[in-house]
Amino acid sequence: MIDINTLPEGWLDQEEADLLLKWAEKTKGPIVEIGSYKGRSAALLAGLNRWLICVDSWQDYEGQKGEEIYKTFLENTKGYLNIEPVRCRAEDWQPVESEFVYIDGDHSFEGTKAAIEKALQCHPKYIAGHDYYRTSDGLNVMKAFDQFFARPVAQAGKMAIFQL
Ligand SMILES: C[S@@+](CC[C@H](N)C(=O)[O-])C[C@H]1O[C@@H](n2cnc3c(N)ncnc32)[C@H](O)[C@@H]1O
Repeated sequence: MIDINTLPEGWLDQEEADLLLKWAEKTKGPIVEIGSYKGRSAALLAGLNRWLICVDSWQDYEGQKGEEIYKTFLENTKGYLNIEPVRCRAEDWQPVESEFVYIDGDHSFEGTKAAIEKALQCHPKYIAGHDYYRTSDGLNVMKAFDQFFARPVAQAGKMAIFQL
């Protein structure tokens, strides 16, 4: 278990972080994260000492300048030599083989769907999705995942794990 209070700011609580790590640990090889922001979940996953590809457009987000967010991400993750930031939209990213893909990017229905389609091209064993819940923009995320999967194999808070 990693204490989330030691991680950069972002959206991930302790039970969600524990679930994400637990299922990532069932896999091997490179991990892909779509949606990294300032590096909270990236720092968590990077602790597994596997290659971590962080795909994020690092555009302006929630009233903050994309350039500033990206700088903060680089600063927050500079201690992890296993992180490879890829600054582009998930839709434009060239997928790589990965057993574990974590999606926490565009929370619209279409954006989530596009991220799932991209994740499937990595041939993962599991896809994790954040903000899988019944209110607000979580509903878009949920509807998109529900188009591909009957149900999550595990869930904690707003984190859901899907098995291929
Ligand atoms: C909720 S934040 C990610 C939070 C992060 N996982 C954490 O633990 O703090 C969503 C991120 O997705 C990125 N994003 C939004 N749309 C995207 C897209 N189409 N492709 C790639 N990244 C996207 C935003 O730039 C933002 O940094």
